[in-house]
Amino acid sequence: MKKLTIITLALLLGCGLEAKKADPVLNIIPEPQSVSFEKGTFKVKGAQFNYDSFLDAATVAAIAELSDGITFCSGKVSSLAVAAGVNYGTPISSLHGVFFLKDATLKPEEYKIEIAPNAVKITAPDHNGFLYAISTFKQILPVEIYAGKPALKANWKVPCCTIQDSPRFAYRGIMLDCARHFFSVDEVKKWLDVCAMYKINRFHWHLTEDQGWRLEIKKYPLLTEIGSFRAGTQTTTDRSKHDGKRYGGYYTQEQVKDVVAYAAKLGITVIPELDLPGHMLGALASYPWLGCTGGPYQVWTRWGVCDQVLCVGKESTFEFLFNVLDEICELFPSEYIHIGGDECPKTEWDKCPVCQAKMNELGLVADDKGTRGQKLQNYVTKRVQEHLAAKGRKIIGWDEILEGELGPGATVMSWRGTKGGEKASAMGFDVIMSPTNYCYLDYKQGVREDDLAIGAGYPKKSDYDAKNLYSYEPFSGIQAGAEKHILGVQANMWTEWIHNDPELFYMLIPRLQALSEVQWCTPEKRSYERLERKLTDKHFKIMEILGYNYRAL
Ligand code: ACM
Ligand code: ZN
Repeated sequence: MKKLTIITLALLLGCGLEAKKADPVLNIIPEPQSVSFEKGTFKVKGAQFNYDSFLDAATVAAIAELSDGITFCSGKVSSLAVAAGVNYGTPISSLHGVFFLKDATLKPEEYKIEIAPNAVKITAPDHNGFLYAISTFKQILPVEIYAGKPALKANWKVPCCTIQDSPRFAYRGIMLDCARHFFSVDEVKKWLDVCAMYKINRFHWHLTEDQGWRLEIKKYPLLTEIGSFRAGTQTTTDRSKHDGKRYGGYYTQEQVKDVVAYAAKLGITVIPELDLPGHMLGALASYPWLGCTGGPYQVWTRWGVCDQVLCVGKESTFEFLFNVLDEICELFPSEYIHIGGDECPKTEWDKCPVCQAKMNELGLVADDKGTRGQKLQNYVTKRVQEHLAAKGRKIIGWDEILEGELGPGATVMSWRGTKGGEKASAMGFDVIMSPTNYCYLDYKQGVREDDLAIGAGYPKKSDYDAKNLYSYEPFSGIQAGAEKHILGVQANMWTEWIHNDPELFYMLIPRLQALSEVQWCTPEKRSYERLERKLTDKHFKIMEILGYNYRAL
């Protein structure tokens, strides 16, 4: 009897072990919405790639890049052909090879990957859906796929499974400040490449600042001749000193078009920021008549918030802004134009007779909604918004645009914590959440980074690491029913203390990967412990292969 029990137990245990055979670990970032495994593997090496004839050229190019990469790295030809006689409804059992089939019934950016021993079937409704499927599929392959070097001995097989995936938020943004420090077109592309890998779809490009104007505007050549260079850079916490080294750079319109087209191929829309009416010293130094005092002005050599802002009592200032915006709209096809609006001191407006006359003409009175100065900024926002609306564009502004009275149709980017986003969404404005305490990538990630971050000298601000970012829940504090106004989440890389490529990517990675799961995954799909494992098991290796510096956990 005893013997029998032991045998039964052993059998039961054996069966249990059999049933519990662990699923393969895919280490995909961001975590897909659902993954279910079946038995077997598909051999990628030498597989034929097939795509629907009605896929757009950019999608076909991305598929070709994948099949070429597999050919090159695996050492066996993966050919590419138009799929004949099949469509998204064709059962996987009757397919042989890898198929990319358009399924217009899926939601925007959604994708599905089915892997069986005989075939891989990838369906998506649009360019981004296919790009995300490819990004996910590449992450399942041996990491050597990222090296672009032959790796003949690698295991070019993928486990049979079904992955169904779609984003939680439509707006998944990241901002790079190319004004405080300038990054070359190649560096910007390298930044876009890694952001695209993690399914980010908006690049907010901060191009104009007190410390430098970085965008060629044909009508106002002095903006780049004068405004794109400063006489030196503050390099310590002492704001009265700078290094005396001339510093600058700008993007020509041809370069901007190149970046916009490059980003589009990666599924990323570029949203330019013309920061106004503050943060405009680069423009004032170039055209002093734009200011309240007439100058002279100099491109700033220090960090902080500058009192010298646009004189908005004058019509000539609006003529300038509209002309600049017209060129910006020609360069950037994005639905949104970011008009800044942050940190605009009103001290000069309070002294300027022209601005005061404008406030009087507009009948602006200080009340519980705002000061006369804030209401003058509302007037600026409204005029710029109307000018852009006539061109079919919408505005995004930092949360200061909410002070006073904001007109309908503006989107608010909540950066001073979450309060701005909570208030704006409750009022019915669309919102992008970008709270400093979670989403600012210029802050230190820990005590190791004393000399690298904006938190230098502020020891309390040393905990803005990947784990902190990961803990952010965008709906937290949002009024019930107002969640629909939260378009998404964005992280911001200000570059006062970031000088070059290695520092930039050290500050970005792995907070980028944490951001991508906050933007993409529903809360129940998130696990920081699992993200850490994915990074250490696979993604840091990928970053090394691709030449990105990163901060180890
Ligand atoms: C900001 O960080 N000044 C938007
Ligand atoms: Zn003025």
